[in-house]
Amino acid sequence: MDVIHSVAALRERLQREPNNVFVPTMGNLHAGHIQLINIAKPRAECTVVSIFVNRLQFGPREDFERYPRTFEADCAKLRAAGVDVVFVPDEKEIYPEPQTYVVEPSDLQHILDGAVRPGHFRGVATVVLKLFNMVSPHSAIFGKKDYQQCLVLTNMVRQFALPIEIILAETVRAEDGLALSSRNSYLSPEERREAPRLYQVLKSARDQLAAGARD
Ligand code: PAF
Repeated sequence: MDVIHSVAALRERLQREPNNVFVPTMGNLHAGHIQLINIAKPRAECTVVSIFVNRLQFGPREDFERYPRTFEADCAKLRAAGVDVVFVPDEKEIYPEPQTYVVEPSDLQHILDGAVRPGHFRGVATVVLKLFNMVSPHSAIFGKKDYQQCLVLTNMVRQFALPIEIILAETVRAEDGLALSSRNSYLSPEERREAPRLYQVLKSARDQLAAGARD
């Protein structure tokens, strides 16, 4: 597995790999990420994973500074999963100058998660477009856990006519139903016990809708 830090070295390495599939991440990898890699691997000769905590998608009062960074453990998991190339740029590599050109997603960015995280999806779409330009994959895999992100990125790829297939993977859950997430480590034991109720409530709403409830 090659661990690469610069865009120039990445491009040189991937020149030999016209057929590559891409899994962008912010690190602190868990079984959900490994599932994305398992879906990616059979689709291409070269599987590329990026680890980059993207400041642009964090609000000023969000958790950019304390977002868990676990590079060594992540590399061990990626190696075991059979990843070929890991791209771990630092901030200057992705943003050598202030990012004044950005991807402005549709109004979809202002609802749901976007309503409480202004600018979040602009930051996500902008960094993913940059990463796509650096990696030039033929496919990229994202988890449905971040469903709004999946819609924003699918729309971006379609509207900019990028030659990249977006593949969406099912959410991986703990046994009690909580979706795996790097941020679950922020939960206190009490919050962790309570968190799976979200999934129970969503499932119950889905079942009631399917049974015809409309109130
Ligand atoms: O889902 C994530 O981890 C991030 O939003 C992504 C897609 C890697 C962009 O920073």
